[in-house]
Amino acid sequence: MRFFALTSVLAVASCALAQEAARYGAVTINGDNTVSAGQTFSVTYNSTVARYTPNTVDFLLQGTLPNGKRSAYVVLARNDFSADQEVLQQDLTMPDVTTALGSDITNWLLISEITYNYDDYTPPVVMSGGTTAPINIV
Ligand SMILES: *[C@@H]1O[C@H](CO)[C@@H](O)[C@H](O)[C@H]1NC(C)=O
Repeated sequence: MRFFALTSVLAVASCALAQEAARYGAVTINGDNTVSAGQTFSVTYNSTVARYTPNTVDFLLQGTLPNGKRSAYVVLARNDFSADQEVLQQDLTMPDVTTALGSDITNWLLISEITYNYDDYTPPVVMSGGTTAPINIV
């Protein structure tokens, strides 16, 4: 009985986490997530599960510096996103971030950063948030 109670608590907790992760939609790298400078790779942003309707979707990169802090963002692409749109597939070309920013940056993430209007205010209250996928830059 105790076991079942614990299981259901865990199930509820992981469900809440999944919903939290999906708040800004989902981003996936199509195919191999190991990418080198100059290589073109395909990404898909999917807003179907997002709580908000994005106005814009930017694809960014961010890594971790040797001191543990997050690196600056590298902007790969900026896109408008229409209200009736659900999916944005885009081919991106990897810039030489290792030479530009340092080969000691690790744990790179591909981020889909959205902007959206919070409720229906005039002037609008524009919010921003992102969802990530690990990307291995070699
Ligand atoms: C978008 O996400 C929804 C919900 O997870 C899924 O049903 C749909 O197949 C996805 N679309 C694409 C193109 O990946």
